[in-house]
Amino acid sequence: MHDRVSGRPSAHAALAFYDDQHPPAGDFLADVLDGFSRSPKQLTPVYFYDAAGSAIFDEITELPEYYVTRTELAILDRIGPELSGLAGPGAVVIEPGSGSSVKIRKLLDALAEPAAYVGLDISGEHLEAACQEIAADYPKLQVGAICADFTQGLDLSHLPLESGRRIIFFPGSTIGNFEPAAARDLLDGFRRAMRPGDAVLIGADRVKDPATLVAAYDDAQGVTARFNLNLVERINRELGGTIEADELSHRAVWNPEFNRIEMHLHADADQRFEVAGREFELREGESIHTENSHKFTPNSFTSLAESVGFDVLHSWSDAADLFSLHWLEPTSKA
Ligand code: TRP
Repeated sequence: MHDRVSGRPSAHAALAFYDDQHPPAGDFLADVLDGFSRSPKQLTPVYFYDAAGSAIFDEITELPEYYVTRTELAILDRIGPELSGLAGPGAVVIEPGSGSSVKIRKLLDALAEPAAYVGLDISGEHLEAACQEIAADYPKLQVGAICADFTQGLDLSHLPLESGRRIIFFPGSTIGNFEPAAARDLLDGFRRAMRPGDAVLIGADRVKDPATLVAAYDDAQGVTARFNLNLVERINRELGGTIEADELSHRAVWNPEFNRIEMHLHADADQRFEVAGREFELREGESIHTENSHKFTPNSFTSLAESVGFDVLHSWSDAADLFSLHWLEPTSKA
């Protein structure tokens, strides 16, 4: 066994392995100072998901306007038997960014005798808890955990994995949160960890009328606004920031040039503030760009996948074509 694979039996009792690849912790302060020094100002969305942000995101997934989660869950329910046929028995399911526990359970329940589940997440604590729960609920499954940054490629070569077909499960609309070049790099990293016959099951949100999209990212109850503003509150709490959150308002804007929803924090008034002793200024009407959520057409998703050597073998959508799941395999042509 590789020496990074820890056998700490007491700490990871129910896990077949815990592979700590020691992902470097993001440097929140450096990233914030860098983003505020740019024009236009921007913040990195990875910092949305602290404990408060994750709890608000759970609320987002239940909003009437946020069709993404419920639509994807309904598709997963409908295509379960088909997925089971495609995967065959003994599949090894790998989930980069594990945490969507409802979705992974739907997949595991649909498959015929899956052999293993491997969660992969940058946050070790979160990962361990999620994997322990899966291990407790699926006693026949080999459950392992990899603490790593999935944007840096997947290193699975040294793991004591069951030999079945590997399925990389990447649900939600996370792929859309990456710029096109980064989305390609991410998928390319997945493909490099795959063997012929392995597959990726990936969610992708669809281009649709802008009103529906804007509402999904700017709901009537203001939950998404709270989510966006939590980033600023986090800067104030953790980095000694003095930003007047009351003078910022959440904006969701459809950008038709890039087929993406952009999240911004719009300054309602001029303000000067500090972060860790550095001074910044926001002018009324200026905005801080906090997130992109790219939307796909069947063609644009296919060209993304094909550009890094995947074939899109199956795609499923809801009746209204709000959201799609895609089954990708490494392309077989030479
Ligand atoms: N991956 C989700 C998406 O793009 C994340 C998300 C939902 C999000 N609502 C948000 C990110 C609001 C920032 C702000 O759909």
